[in-house]
Amino acid sequence: MGVRTALRRTLASQLGNPRGLMGKAVAKRLNKFNLAATTGAVEALAVVDGEVVADLGFGGGVGLRLLLDTNAAEVHGVDYSASMVDRARGEFADDRLRLHTGSITALPLPDDSVDGLITLNTIYFIEDLTTAFAEIRRILRPGGRAVIGIGDPEAMAKMPVTRHGFLVRPVAEVVETLEGAGLALTAHRRVSESKLAPHLLVVGHAN
Ligand SMILES: C[S@@+](CC[C@H](N)C(=O)[O-])C[C@H]1O[C@@H](n2cnc3c(N)ncnc32)[C@H](O)[C@@H]1O
Repeated sequence: MGVRTALRRTLASQLGNPRGLMGKAVAKRLNKFNLAATTGAVEALAVVDGEVVADLGFGGGVGLRLLLDTNAAEVHGVDYSASMVDRARGEFADDRLRLHTGSITALPLPDDSVDGLITLNTIYFIEDLTTAFAEIRRILRPGGRAVIGIGDPEAMAKMPVTRHGFLVRPVAEVVETLEGAGLALTAHRRVSESKLAPHLLVVGHAN
């Protein structure tokens, strides 16, 4: 294996589970690179004062910061990576923040406990998307909203790092899986006007 391939493979693994020294650098890059998409997701969520909200797979924590900037009563952050949870614990001194190490496929939150959530750039690392979306539906209160942010599949395919284990699915397939999990699409936004801009899928309970 060439050096370039080895580096890309390492980066791909870090993006799916940032950890150790390299994880710190990856977290900073994620915050910068995904700021616009995360800002768009929080805008689409339109948090109402006093709501309980969450960021699933928060990585470097840019989404937690934006959610803490609202008047949410509680902000939950769930991430698979204990390093990212520790980092967020050190970074945010806000007693509304609740951090959890855990997976989107087995969320450490009760049924009907969240009014709104965002999850960006996470589903590429999840094989069992049906279970992940069923978990999102389970924790969302009826009337609650979830914003799922994903890179445009064509743009993702142009990024060499995604060839190393990323599950890049067509948007239509993601929407179909959401619907299969009992969620209904209420809006489909793009982060910018570019043809390759990230997608923001806004969903709520189908019934
Ligand atoms: C590419 S980063 C995205 C971080 C952030 N949402 C953003 O857009 O900048 C993916 C994050 O999702 C987390 N992650 C991956 N699979 C997960 C899972 N099954 N459950 C929870 N977190 C997960 C990783 O640990 C990592 O922090």
